Amino acid sequence: MTTSSAPGKIILFGEHAVVYGRPALAVPVTQVHADVEVLDSASTGILIHALGINLHTELNTLPSDHPIASVIHNLFFLSRISSFPNLEINITSTIPVASGLGSGAAVTVALTRALSAHINFPMTDDEINSFTYEIEKLHHGTPSGIDNTVVTYAKPVYFVKQPPSPAGGGARGEGEINTFKVGKPFTIVIGDTGISAPTKESVGDVRKLWEANKPKWESVFNKVAEISITARRAIETGKWELLGELMNENQALLQEMTVSSPELDQLVSAARNAGALGAKLSGGGRGGNMIALVKPDEAEAVARSLVEAGAKNTIITQVS
Ligand code: MEV
Repeated sequence: MTTSSAPGKIILFGEHAVVYGRPALAVPVTQVHADVEVLDSASTGILIHALGINLHTELNTLPSDHPIASVIHNLFFLSRISSFPNLEINITSTIPVASGLGSGAAVTVALTRALSAHINFPMTDDEINSFTYEIEKLHHGTPSGIDNTVVTYAKPVYFVKQPPSPAGGGARGEGEINTFKVGKPFTIVIGDTGISAPTKESVGDVRKLWEANKPKWESVFNKVAEISITARRAIETGKWELLGELMNENQALLQEMTVSSPELDQLVSAARNAGALGAKLSGGGRGGNMIALVKPDEAEAVARSLVEAGAKNTIITQVS
C-alpha cells in the first residue's frame, strides 16, 4: 500500500491580483488535509472510493474530464505505463470543497504522489507542482498556480506567477519557490461561510471587469501588490498591528473587485468587533472562507463570535 497526504491552504494576501502577476502570500493549513491510499487489487480495473463525494466506481465509468479521472489518466500517460495495473484507490479529505482552502489541489497532489510512487514513477516536488498546475488549469480556467505551489511544498509561499514562456506552455506554476520567514508565529482564525463558491466563477468575473477597464483594475492590482510586499515585511519583523491593517485594506479592494459577499462581510465585521487585528476573505471569495488575525489569547473568543455571526465552522491555526 502507498499513502500520501497534502494540506489545505489559505491565502493571506493578494488573491485575484496574483492572477495578473502581482505577488501573493499563502500558507499551508495542516489541520485539514487530503489523504490517499493506493493498493494492489485482486479484481480487474481501478476501483476508486472517494467517501466525501460519495464516489465508489471503476475508473472507466468516469468521464475523462472528471477531476480524479483526469489525474489518473494524465499521470499514466506521463509515466508511459504499458498496461493499466489493477488498483484500489481510497481518497478522503477533511478540506471543505469550493471554500478557498485548496481542496482540489490537495487531492491532486496527494493522489499524484501516492499513485506515482505506487507505480514506481518517482516524481520530484517540482514535477508534482507542475503536473498539479496543469490539472488545475483543466478545471479552473486561468489559475495563477499559487494553490498547487503552497499545497505541494507545504510551506509559506511568496508567490509571483511565472510569465508565459516564449516556447509556449504558459505559466507553469513552478520555478524558484520563494518562501518567507515568519519573524514571530502568529494566529489566524478561519471562518467558513458554508457557501461553496467555485473559484473559476469569481476569477472569470474579475477578468470581465479587467477587460472592460484595464487601467482602473491594473491600478487596483498595483495597490494589492503594495499590500502583499508590505505584509511580507510585517510578517518577517513581527508587526502584527500593521499586518491587521493591511488585511483590512486588502479586504476593501476585494470588495471593490466584487468578490466578497454579504456573508463574508458579516464574518469579517464580527471578527473585527470581537477584537481581531484585521480580517478579510481568503481565496476566490463570494463564499468559502475568511481569515482573521488575532492575538493568541483572543482566538477562542473571535472563533465564538464568528459562529454567532453564522460561520458553519472555524479553525484556529498558527503560522510559524
Ligand atoms: C484561489 O485560491 C486564489 C485566486 O487568486 C485564484 C488563483 O490564484 O488561481 C482567486
